[in-house]
Formats: sequence, structure tokens, C-alpha cells
Amino acid sequence: MGLRGKDWKSKRVLDFGCGTGLLAQKVAPHVGELVAVDTSEKMIAVLTDKNIPNVVAIHGDILAADTEIGAKLGAGFDLIYASSVCGFLSDYESAVLALAGLLRPVGHFIQWDWLASDGNESGLSERRVRNAMQAAKFKSIRVEHAFSFETDEHTMPVLIGAGGI
Ligand SMILES: C[S@@+](CC[C@H](N)C(=O)[O-])C[C@H]1O[C@@H](n2cnc3c(N)ncnc32)[C@H](O)[C@@H]1O
Repeated sequence: MGLRGKDWKSKRVLDFGCGTGLLAQKVAPHVGELVAVDTSEKMIAVLTDKNIPNVVAIHGDILAADTEIGAKLGAGFDLIYASSVCGFLSDYESAVLALAGLLRPVGHFIQWDWLASDGNESGLSERRVRNAMQAAKFKSIRVEHAFSFETDEHTMPVLIGAGGI
């Protein structure tokens, strides 16, 4: 995405399912505003304690029809990313649709998830991600096996899904 370019200094980014903000703290210095949301109050508390100046940490479920959280999110986003979140959602397809609706024109959505494989219940398949992105009307879609984590016992493949509105 060229996040280190000066253009990004005026852009708004949403970290969906931010956890304790491990990725948010790397992205925030390069962008205008980073909104970080998570349904876990404890995760948001850890991120809030990091006091990152341009990070707005929000506890709640932005996928629920909650107008209070909707108002906190503010205007649309130039980039929404979700690192190891989508595979854990009860309705992944609806989530992609909802997140696409939060993007500004020319905005992008990027997700990383475990690639579905035998014995890996929380993974997503490339086909499922591609279908969800197509249903959400993303124009440029890239879905692929990005890399793998190797442990002594397992190889854990990671999928990247990226779409531009
Ligand atoms: C495996 S953790 C990943 C955290 C972080 N993205 C990272 O890479 O370190 C998954 C996170 O997704 C959050 N989550 C699950 N469902 C969510 C939802 N509907 N909205 C926001 N966050 C959600 C969980 O609370 C958890 O913090």
C-alpha cells in the first residue's frame, strides 16, 4: 500500500479486531488517523494504555447495528485491515460486506487469516475469500497464500485477501 509515502499522512485507517494493537502501533506513525476496534474490552484497555497519539481505540462490535459506535467511527476509511480476525467471525461474508461499506472511494480492504486446511477449523479458503470480496463488489481482488509459519510440528499457511473499491 505504500504506507510510508507522504500521501498516507492525511488518510484514515481502520484496524478491525485490533487486539492489543501490535499492528496498529506499526501502522499509526505513517497515517493521519488510525481507528482501532475490538470486541474485547481487555484488548482495547491494553491498546489505550499505549497512548499512541493518533490512535482512537474503540471497544465494541461495529458489525452490530449500533449507532453509537457508528458515530464514533466517523467518516469513511481509506484502508481497513484485519489481521487474524475474519476466520473467527460467525458471519464472515456479512462482515466483508459491512466493512466494504465503510470504505471511502478508492479505499482498500486487506485481511490475513489462516488458510483453511485439514484439521484447521478456523481457517478460510481462497475461494471463500474471493467469493466474499466479489459479493462485496470489490474491483481489484488479490487472494493468495502469502507465507507460512513453520513450527517444529506444523506448517501453518497464511492467506492474504486484498480488495480495492
Ligand atoms: C487472533 S486476535 C488478532 C488480534 C490482532 N489483530 C493481531 O493481529 O494481533 C483476534 C481479535 O479479533 C477480535 N474480534 C473478534 N470478533 C470481532 C468483531 N466482531 N469485531 C471486532 N473485533 C473482533 C478479538 O477480540 C481478538 O482481539
